[in-house]
Amino acid sequence: MKKFFPVYVRVPVIFFIVFALMEYFIDSGDRPAFVKYPMVAVFLFVFLFILIAIEITLNAVNRVMYQLMSPEEKAKLEYESSLRFNESEWYKNLMQRLTKTQPIEKEGDLLMDHDYDGIKELDNNLPPWWVYLFYICIIFGVVYVARYELFGGNNQETELKMEMAQAKVDVEEYLKTAPDLMDEKTVVLLTDKADLAAGKEIFTTNCAACHRADAGGQIGPNLTDDHWILGGGIKNLFHTITNGGRDGKGMISWKGTLKPKEIQKVASYILSLQGSNPKDPKAPDGEIWVDESAPKNDAGAKKDTTQVK
Ligand code: HEC
Repeated sequence: MKKFFPVYVRVPVIFFIVFALMEYFIDSGDRPAFVKYPMVAVFLFVFLFILIAIEITLNAVNRVMYQLMSPEEKAKLEYESSLRFNESEWYKNLMQRLTKTQPIEKEGDLLMDHDYDGIKELDNNLPPWWVYLFYICIIFGVVYVARYELFGGNNQETELKMEMAQAKVDVEEYLKTAPDLMDEKTVVLLTDKADLAAGKEIFTTNCAACHRADAGGQIGPNLTDDHWILGGGIKNLFHTITNGGRDGKGMISWKGTLKPKEIQKVASYILSLQGSNPKDPKAPDGEIWVDESAPKNDAGAKKDTTQVK
């Protein structure tokens, strides 16, 4: 590989392959994996860093090896490299500027006067790529401290709280417009013939066994009179059907079986049977329910209303 590709092709290609593999194998929905999972981004960053570090180390090792070669070997290598892809001039300049390395022949100028049993030390410049990175870290640190410690930027906990609050608002907004996802606060009475027919169908299949086909009541209470145990009106009915009746009374929760939209239809159908007076109805249970949310004429009427148990 090294023979054919110069480093500025090699490193990006390896990096891109790893990047592509991660994107391919990590299931991250509609967002790229490195955006959705910060750890992936961190991994890629560290990986790139290690790649570059390896290249720099290899380069240094090669230079030392070259130094140790005999003149014939050097000549042979020179000849071989003249056959390969030549590193372009701009790349050499760039590397020179980023690393500020001294050519090996001039290393003598850098030699410090330490000499420990033959081990000598060079006084190299700090490589500019490293120095710039260091400056960037300092600037980042100053900005970070100023923003989060001095000017009270949001920490992760407040950020989470804000996002949760926003999510709640979004869900409410969504529920308003999504017809299939309603709750007892947003449900409205349906009067459309097709809806009521669908409601009747649901009632006959699921509910007639206990409430009788005409809703006159049997095991379950009569649903056609104005007496309600758990409250009348579309909102209370929706609540009862969704969550079930009182414990141990036999009316189960239907939210696992019926969709909210279906509960709305069957509840609307039941309310359309009000006052239908079926034959031999079950005696009224519960109390007469008055819809307090209906507009009232007398001025003293209570305004706050939603009747949900
Ligand atoms: C296993 C029998 C059974 C089935 C099936 C059943 N119910 Fe009931 N239902 C009852 C009983 C018993 C009660 C009384 C609950 C209580 O007292 O808490 C009741 C109560 C109710 C109430 C409240 C009545 C009131 O007076 O407040 C509604 C509304 C209702 N059922 C609707 C339905 C619908 C709609 C279905 C079908 C999706 C259904 N029920 C299926 C037994 C049943």
